[in-house]
This record gives sequence, C-alpha cells and structure tokens, in this order.
Amino acid sequence: MIEFRKITWENFDECIHLQLTDEQKGFLASNVYSLAQSYVALLNDERPAMTFAIYDDETMIGFIMMYNDTAEENEYGDEAAYGILRFMIDRKYQNKGFGTKALQKALEYIRSFPQGEASAVYLSYAPQNEAARRLYATFGFKEIGMDEEADEMVAKLIL
Ligand SMILES: CC(C)(COP(=O)(O)OP(=O)(O)OC[C@H]1O[C@@H](n2cnc3c(N)ncnc32)[C@H](O)[C@@H]1OP(=O)(O)O)[C@@H](O)C(=O)NCCC(=O)NCCS
Repeated sequence: MIEFRKITWENFDECIHLQLTDEQKGFLASNVYSLAQSYVALLNDERPAMTFAIYDDETMIGFIMMYNDTAEENEYGDEAAYGILRFMIDRKYQNKGFGTKALQKALEYIRSFPQGEASAVYLSYAPQNEAARRLYATFGFKEIGMDEEADEMVAKLIL
C-alpha cells in the first residue's frame, strides 16, 4: 500500500539517497536541495512545504514536495492553488505503477485541502520528460504553456 510519511531523523538519510536514472537527473532538483528549500520555507513562509517520503508498505520508493499558494502568490494563475514542485520515484522502482498510485495519493491529499481551499493544482516538467507528461495527462492535467524562465512546461488540473 502506498503511503506518505513525514521526513524524520530516522528516514531523511535514505530519502536523500533515492536515485534517478542518469537521463532523469537534469529533470529536477535533488532531494537534498528540496529538503533545504523546505527548511527555508519553514523559517520564512506562513505555510510549510508539504514534503513527504513515499512508501510502498515499509519500503521507501520516492519523494514528493507540494505547496500551497494564495491567489496573490500564484505565479501561473489568479486562484488559490496547490502545486507539486517535486515528485520522483527511485529508479529501482520505476515503471511498476508506483508513480501512478503515488500521484493518485497526492491528489487525494490535496483535495483534503490540508492548507486551505483551492481550485487548481499546478506543476511543471521539462518538455522532453515524456514519462511525466504522460502520467500527468492521465490525471487530467492540461498544458497551459512554457515557463520560459525555468524552461519547463506548466500544466494545470482544475479541482
Ligand atoms: C515520472 C515518474 C514519477 C513516473 O513514475 P513511475 O513509477 O515510473 O510511473 P508508472 O510506473 O506509474 O508509469 C506511469 C507512466 O509513465 C510511463 N513511463 C514510466 N517510465 C517511463 C520512461 N522511462 N519513459 C517513458 N515512459 C515512462 C509509463 O509507461 C506509464 O505510462 P502508461 O500508463 O501510459 O504506460 C518517474 O519516472 C520519475 O521519478 N521520473 C523522474 C522524476 C520526474 O521526472 N518527476 C516528474 C517531474 S517533477
């Protein structure tokens, strides 16, 4: 069963050692960088980043980082929204359906509005990231255009 667990003193080391394939390394920041950003968010932002290790039963298989923006903070639209900033499944566990199950879980979590109501979810991915494009499209994400600064395609799901 897929479960999101918080990052603790017991599991953070394992989390930062989760691996992508060489081809995927350029697609997203490392888990170390993401956890460093969560720390900065914790000290400076009103709402902490929602950062979790993804487990299949007792095995850690991936990592996810989500956030909540008010309508004013949202850089892609004009509504209160959630975002999935990082999402990865360790290379050993890819292509087995875990990414699909974990994204399902993430959207259930977001729909529980843990940091307040919102009407959309945003995320972005490298244009050549076919696996991500396909996975997100399955869940109804629609591409809304390039974020030229990040050189990533932005996609939106209306809740
Ligand atoms: C994207 C990612 C999370 C998918 O995880 P996963 O566990 O492999 O996903 P699933 O096994 O549920 O497969 C989901 C879909 O992706 C496709 N897929 C998986 N790996 C793929 C690959 N290397 N190339 C092309 N398609 C791939 C599967 O075929 C499946 O599509 P289908 O349902 O049409 O067959 C994983 O590949 C990953 O961690 N990638 C690197 C990080 C990343 O790009 N994150 C997203 C952007 S932030």
